[in-house]
Amino acid sequence: MEIISNPTHDEIKKAAKALKDGHLVAFPTETVYGLGADATNERAVSRIYAVKGRPTDHPLIVHISSINKLEKWAIEIPEYAIKLAEEFWPGPMTLILKRSELAKDFITGSQENVGVRVPVHPVALELLSEFEKLGGLGIAAPSANRFGAVSPTASKDVVEEIGNYLSNTDQILDGGQSSVGIESTIFSCLSDVPMVLRPGAITLESVTNLSGVNSIIENMYSKLKSPGAYPSHYAPKAKVIVEGAPNPGDGFIALSEIPTPIGSIRLAAPETTEKYAQILYQSLRLGDQKGLENIFVLLPEGSGLALAVRDRIQKAAN
Ligand code: TXA
Ligand code: MG
Repeated sequence: MEIISNPTHDEIKKAAKALKDGHLVAFPTETVYGLGADATNERAVSRIYAVKGRPTDHPLIVHISSINKLEKWAIEIPEYAIKLAEEFWPGPMTLILKRSELAKDFITGSQENVGVRVPVHPVALELLSEFEKLGGLGIAAPSANRFGAVSPTASKDVVEEIGNYLSNTDQILDGGQSSVGIESTIFSCLSDVPMVLRPGAITLESVTNLSGVNSIIENMYSKLKSPGAYPSHYAPKAKVIVEGAPNPGDGFIALSEIPTPIGSIRLAAPETTEKYAQILYQSLRLGDQKGLENIFVLLPEGSGLALAVRDRIQKAAN
């Protein structure tokens, strides 16, 4: 596989061509790195599942370049979903909608709905628009990690996770550290109001502030097939502990205002909740690199993004 750092326009064009030819391209987004394939190419999509070691009935998010392409993939789109898309795309938000005929069973896990997102990272957007210029309709992309593991927020994490499973015609585009650091907010738009299936940087509050749109938090362990909604996910090799107190030799992650307990190994001291989200996954990886057995993580308090950070930490701890 080829790793391309700070890809030029020509290199992004080549990556788009590789996707069109059925190869896999891992690419940066503002949330986490994705493992991309042509969303209309069943053979290419099946390689995503093989590389990730992911059960084949788990649906994939289709990435598109703009809201204008939404109607290719979804039908009977509720008015509130259009509002959400106009307000928060491009950005860290995925909408679950009734699927069009284009969204085949191999994308949706045989469900009648499809997840769609317009990312805001410039490399992702350029890749999408070059792909569409070649006649592409959407890029299917889960997070570029092995099933159940921590999502990658830098290209070196992608190499660590799936480098051994990619072939030499696949590519990894390096676009720096992901700025949000945790996966997109997922709203199900299948009923009268949007329901949060996975909390993220587009918060409940920001949606409620959008006039006329109220959202409700679904049971996170919903019946929809959503691996991110399994109680255990996003987990490093070390055991993640959120209750009690750290023992000497344990890794320690908490906001910077919290002093390091004696004997603990500080892995991160983010100053804000935004920073916490941004560095969470790389701090868990750091614990693994240090060969730590346990990582104690102090949950951030509050609503908004803190809710999403707690969600990921709790899943890593299960
Ligand atoms: O931020 C993100 O969303 C990243 C970047 C690469 O865009 N992608 C990502 O994909 O996190 P993935 O596959 O790792 O997680 C997407 C979650 C999964 O839990 C999947 O089951 C759920 O979204 N999902 C996708 N399509 C769905 C659908 N039609 N119905 C219900 N859940 C769906
Ligand atoms: Mg994932």
